[in-house]
Amino acid sequence: MKKDLLKLLDLTPEEITAILNKADQLKYEKKHGIAQKYLEGKTLAMIFEKNSTRTRVSFEAGMFQLGGHALFLSGKESQIGRGEPIEDTARVLSRYCDGIMIRTFGQDEVEQLAKYADIPVINGLTDFCHPCQVLADLLTVREHKAVLEGLKLCYIGDGNNMANSLIVGGLKTGMEVSVACPAGYDPDRQVLDFAQSDPAYKFSLHRAPEDAAAGADVIFTDVWASMGQEEEKAVREKAFAGYQVNAELMALANPGCMVQHCLPAHRGEEITAEVFEAHAQEIFDEAENRLHAQKAVMCLLMEDK
Ligand code: CP
Ligand code: NVA
Repeated sequence: MKKDLLKLLDLTPEEITAILNKADQLKYEKKHGIAQKYLEGKTLAMIFEKNSTRTRVSFEAGMFQLGGHALFLSGKESQIGRGEPIEDTARVLSRYCDGIMIRTFGQDEVEQLAKYADIPVINGLTDFCHPCQVLADLLTVREHKAVLEGLKLCYIGDGNNMANSLIVGGLKTGMEVSVACPAGYDPDRQVLDFAQSDPAYKFSLHRAPEDAAAGADVIFTDVWASMGQEEEKAVREKAFAGYQVNAELMALANPGCMVQHCLPAHRGEEITAEVFEAHAQEIFDEAENRLHAQKAVMCLLMEDK
């Protein structure tokens, strides 16, 4: 494995599979009460410059289950909020801790943190990507469908951090990926270039949700306005009207099509309450799998070799 988990673009398909396999092992051990103190005596610093429920709790609980300790640093209350350079924070935390998890705005901040830190850095969401979430998503789909290769993954909505990571994660694990976004809200150029970089990748970008959902085995969606875009809410509500996962859209997918949502969900916007509740089991399996996938990442990056 590499030193850090900054984005799925950096990982080989084999590394992604290794994380998923390790997550399966850790999930099995947890369910069977098998001790898993693989990170005894280790500390993870968690920097949050945006809100979180799942990421914070799953990293903190996961670290505890592995015998280690996690500490929460809010962007506002630490010296980061007063402008201390990320390069200095990286070097200071490297003297105290064994890993850093960061949720922030710019991907460049996370890359800079990793460059200056001697310890592993894990991306807990940026505007560009959400790799830990998508590792949990791939784990969930693989659990429900047994394999990933050959399945059709569809994403409806904003070409945001979730779309970017799903495209990369889906293609790297051999899935066909179809995306529907309104014009002006496409996924990142770097991700679209990646999707077109290999003739083996099956990728399509649509404007009509119906075209993307046809024959899907799993449909993903996410909020219309991400953290940091609160002021664009009204404009986005107009732009995304119709980009909703509802019963009519589900009827176009394959029988047994799963629905996944990273949460939090806005019922009546990107997904109807009816579809959400019909697929609640899969969606909360997905939330649970954040724990197992991130424990796997922490073990692979932070365990003594
Ligand atoms: N899906 C996700 O990352 O949730 P939180 O924002 O609650 O961490
Ligand atoms: N796209 C969302 C994901 C939240 C987990 C956001 O960035 O706010």
